[in-house]
Amino acid sequence: MCGIVGYIGNRDAAPIMIEGLEKLEYRGYDSAGIAVYDGNRLQIRKKKGRLAALEKYLQSDPVSGKTGIGHTRWATHGAPADMNAHPHANAAQTLAVVHNGIIENYVKIKEWLSTRGYSFKSQTDTEVIVQLIDYYYNGNLMDAVGHAVRRLSGSYAFLVISKDNPDEIIAVRKDSPLVIGVGQGENFIASDVPALLKYTRDVFFLEDDEIARITVDGVDIFDAYGMPVDREMFHVDWNVEAAEKAGYPHFMLKEIHEEPKAVKDTIMSRLDEKGRINISDLGMDEDAIKNLKRVIIVACGTAYHAGLVAKYVFEKELGIPVEVDIASEYRYRSPVINEGDLFIAISQSGETADTLAALRLAKKHGAKVLSIVNAVGSTIARESDATMFTMAGPEIAVASTKAYTTQLVSLIMLITEMGRIRGAIDAKKYADTVEELEAMPDTMRIILNNDKKVKTAAHMCSNINDMFYFGRNIDYAVALEGSLKLKEISYIHSEAYAAGELKHGPIALIEKGTLVFVFATQPALYEKTASNIKEVKARGAYVIAVCSRDADLVMDLADDVIKLPLADDILMPMISVIPAQLFAYYCAVERGFDVDKPRNLAKSVTVE
Ligand code: M6R
Repeated sequence: MCGIVGYIGNRDAAPIMIEGLEKLEYRGYDSAGIAVYDGNRLQIRKKKGRLAALEKYLQSDPVSGKTGIGHTRWATHGAPADMNAHPHANAAQTLAVVHNGIIENYVKIKEWLSTRGYSFKSQTDTEVIVQLIDYYYNGNLMDAVGHAVRRLSGSYAFLVISKDNPDEIIAVRKDSPLVIGVGQGENFIASDVPALLKYTRDVFFLEDDEIARITVDGVDIFDAYGMPVDREMFHVDWNVEAAEKAGYPHFMLKEIHEEPKAVKDTIMSRLDEKGRINISDLGMDEDAIKNLKRVIIVACGTAYHAGLVAKYVFEKELGIPVEVDIASEYRYRSPVINEGDLFIAISQSGETADTLAALRLAKKHGAKVLSIVNAVGSTIARESDATMFTMAGPEIAVASTKAYTTQLVSLIMLITEMGRIRGAIDAKKYADTVEELEAMPDTMRIILNNDKKVKTAAHMCSNINDMFYFGRNIDYAVALEGSLKLKEISYIHSEAYAAGELKHGPIALIEKGTLVFVFATQPALYEKTASNIKEVKARGAYVIAVCSRDADLVMDLADDVIKLPLADDILMPMISVIPAQLFAYYCAVERGFDVDKPRNLAKSVTVE
């Protein structure tokens, strides 16, 4: 999981690539590097650490040229180090490669090449790509890359430049994203659209097993058999500012504050003027919806937590059994998929390797695959039978926030419309839900505008080492998400439990001063949750309750209370998660950590 960029044109390639890499640093930041053809030879500059380290290095040892490739790395094979940084070159330094993905058979290829006189400088899997191309090269770069690709297994998007073919960049894609931006007398390549937006909005998305030759004047795409592909150009209509911080100190805070708009855009994308939710593009006819027997939801991380909320809602509102699974578990068991099951994959990036693999498995078993995805043009979206796009816009912070709330809103809209079709949701309930959804952005703003209590709580808690989150039912799903947010950016250890489970073990960990974050938004369970609060308080816990404003029983017991506006039970997670996101954010800021780029993590996990 890394970010790659390429440029070919009449401008100086290095600054353009550095700008592109800045937009891709969310994909990894263990090292960065560029290779530029300077009119004479390939010049490679690479440095361990963030892009800033490379920029500094380039000031003392600049490169200039009009064709180049660049890379920002998330280490998989070989520790973060200069020698493992990309680009990697052949011994003669006539070929250079940047790669995102994993070459699974690299050990075998390395051994094979070693017996043919090749030696390796790095511990990476990537180096075998450039050496293989070198092995097959006899003057035609495209042919050599084609031969090399046939030997590779795994996932890869890579770019190749050559001193002897300086007028072209070869781009290859299999299971890792790659987009080609088309300019006037110049072309761009990147792992993700934001890296190109400053220069062009016209792009080609490369598909799996395709190879492209990019020159100053054109882009030629070929399939795995070397046949030309006629790819339609895609026009991207996001604005550039959407990918920038807009005055907030961190992308995460900006993205939390964008939740009302993101939710509104997602709602509006599916609501017609009569207040009817439109899912007609999903290819599910009414009979299929009426006969639906089971739903399977698969995702990772935050997207998985959105799936857990959906389970409660599907079962409560439609009475359809739902299985929710973590994609990396699902793909390696023998899942039972019945004809007529609806398989839902949820993913912000649309590139998560495990979710994609689970989706492919489900498709192989004949399931209808619906995905809920944020990134347009992503692999998961393209491989699904139908996609509900969340309208969150680019999410840059590694910690997912607005993607989660838009995933929830998409799921609720899907369930509500399916409920109408199945006769499980009557006209009044339908209209009430739509009305509440339309009011949701304002409801969310109320919480965002009153974040003082959360800030104070975070200030008080920023020095702790451990904390607990609990809730019941749908609140348990939110507790899991709150706990994930806290640990990933503040590095405070936390655990989330279903409140009723406390007595079965975790309560042994509660002692004087232990901090407990409790969610209580489901009126039918206030009493039960209140009992759990009593139990932990009796053992000395300090309790912060995030609860609906009518949860008197809970409020009377908690040490601190963050009151939420009232909404239908199934909509509460969209509101209750916001204090948890803000709490994690402020804790991380208090502790002085890099909120947007937490250690060891990357935004898009395109390797398993
Ligand atoms: O792009 P995806 O939604 O498929 O990503 C799934 C997870 O990797 C992601 O939600 C991760 O858990 C986030 N860092 C959570 O904030």
